[in-house]
Amino acid sequence: MDTSRVYLILKASGTPGAQRAAPPSPPPDACRCPRSHRWALKLSCAGLLLLLLTLIGMSVLVRVLIQKPSIGKCRECIQENITNPTESPAKLSCTKGWLPHRDKCIHFSQESNIWKEGLADCAMKGATLLLIQDQEELRFVKDSANVKGSAFWIGLNHTWPDKNWRWINGSTLSSDVLQITGEAKKDSCTSISKDRVVSEDCASDNMWICQKEPTLIPETLCPDS
Ligand SMILES: *[C@@H]1O[C@H](CO)[C@@H](O)[C@H](O)[C@H]1NC(C)=O
Ligand SMILES: *[C@@H]1O[C@H](CO)[C@@H](O)[C@H](O)[C@H]1NC(C)=O
Ligand SMILES: *[C@@H]1O[C@H](CO)[C@@H](O)[C@H](O)[C@H]1NC(C)=O
Repeated sequence: MDTSRVYLILKASGTPGAQRAAPPSPPPDACRCPRSHRWALKLSCAGLLLLLLTLIGMSVLVRVLIQKPSIGKCRECIQENITNPTESPAKLSCTKGWLPHRDKCIHFSQESNIWKEGLADCAMKGATLLLIQDQEELRFVKDSANVKGSAFWIGLNHTWPDKNWRWINGSTLSSDVLQITGEAKKDSCTSISKDRVVSEDCASDNMWICQKEPTLIPETLCPDS
């Protein structure tokens, strides 16, 4: 009886104590749980940060790897463009048999024919008969004609009935570009040789000069790629 009473007393006194102690006891439990959570949080945060940094690092690396070869391939052309901006694009992109000059490519025919056939031949080559823009171009063409040793049709004829020298692009000739030797008649076309520009019968035979725009081919600009 005594022992059971003691037990009961103990129990009775123990329960409130346990109840009282219970509130503080959950805190250790509650503390232990968030602490482990906090650790897990810290760890995952660190992991995420590491992942993010790795991703950034990798994307930078990939970008550098992608850009580097193309920069390397084109560096020469870009430098050439910078050092020689007016000449190199045309110079690099005239097809074989065409002479680069400023912003155009020029071709001297090897055969002779009447003016109209020269006109048609240039058109077939995706070009037109030569239009002379200024004194500098006139000099260049005369010098080239001197080397070839012949007379060449250019894209300038005498139109009727307005009696004008007219370029094939429709513009009339301005006398400060070139002077034409010879009579301007109904069927007169213009040929150029080493020292002069002559009015000739369009039905006579001459070689001719075609011009066209340089073709901008990236492969020509960057032979590596
Ligand atoms: C060269 O310069 C021209 C303009 O002057 C530009 O249109 C072209 O894209 C440039 N080419 C290169 C390879 O930088
Ligand atoms: C036609 O060509 C001539 C000679 O190159 C040039 O002076 C003129 O401006 C050109 N006209 C047009 C409309 O392009
Ligand atoms: C002169 O050129 C024009 C094209 O610009 C052409 O229509 C005309 O027939 C030419 N004249 C002669 C006589 O060939």
